[in-house]
Amino acid sequence: MSNERVKTVVEDIVDAVCDVFRKHEVTFDEYRAGFMHLIDTGENHEIGLLLDMFFNQTICDIEMKDRQGTRSNVEGPYFLEGAPLVTDEVKVCGDTEPLLIRGVVKDIKGNPIPDAEVDLWWANPEGKYSGYTDDLPMEYFRGKVNTDAEGKYCVMGSMPMEYSIATEQHGPTGELIEMLGGQGVRTKHIHQKYRKAGYQTLTTQAYFSGAAYLDEDPVKAVFEDLTYDLKEEDGRPVLDLEIVIDVVKA
Ligand code: BEZ
Ligand code: FE
Repeated sequence: MSNERVKTVVEDIVDAVCDVFRKHEVTFDEYRAGFMHLIDTGENHEIGLLLDMFFNQTICDIEMKDRQGTRSNVEGPYFLEGAPLVTDEVKVCGDTEPLLIRGVVKDIKGNPIPDAEVDLWWANPEGKYSGYTDDLPMEYFRGKVNTDAEGKYCVMGSMPMEYSIATEQHGPTGELIEMLGGQGVRTKHIHQKYRKAGYQTLTTQAYFSGAAYLDEDPVKAVFEDLTYDLKEEDGRPVLDLEIVIDVVKA
């Protein structure tokens, strides 16, 4: 069955790629080398990584045309549906540094939003996401919490590690970053997804002021309005988030 939306977008993508090939007079050998690199990327299960690295933030920017509130930011390839429900603590393991994650969720008029569902996930001290390596089950370093009557949540987690796209296995996406002369480390970040009936789902991230690699994100998704100063309470770092989500438009 033909699909007009798919036809419109895919035909434009194909035209844009053909224009680039013509502009740079790409040879058959170069075309085949790129083709083989993509095959290799698939065989290494890195297609999601590659696409999200180049395109995810553009989709988030498009989303912001239709909403106010906190900026939409890359989900990346490591979100998992069905994270464990937590109340005050996300399970962590290994040599972690505690981080208290506190948030308040409001609408665009400043009213608190109770019973919003909040997914939190971040990289472990080895820079890995749970559920994606055999030795790190998904109940670690990710959790789902609900906001209280005042729109607030508060969970103990851990300081995220930087995430390196150019892994020690040196996958094809890392190789591509190298060929492009870039660097493949994403600065530390905490992923969040906010869901509440009647509101647009918000997927976003929090970055840390002064952190390494803040100004050289390979994904081009670090923004000042998502970069937070950590507080310190009882000798522990605290991340305080104020999140604004917008209603579903008619
Ligand atoms: C991340 O935020 O973890 C991510 C986003 C895009 C590509 C790779 C990783
Ligand atoms: Fe991430």
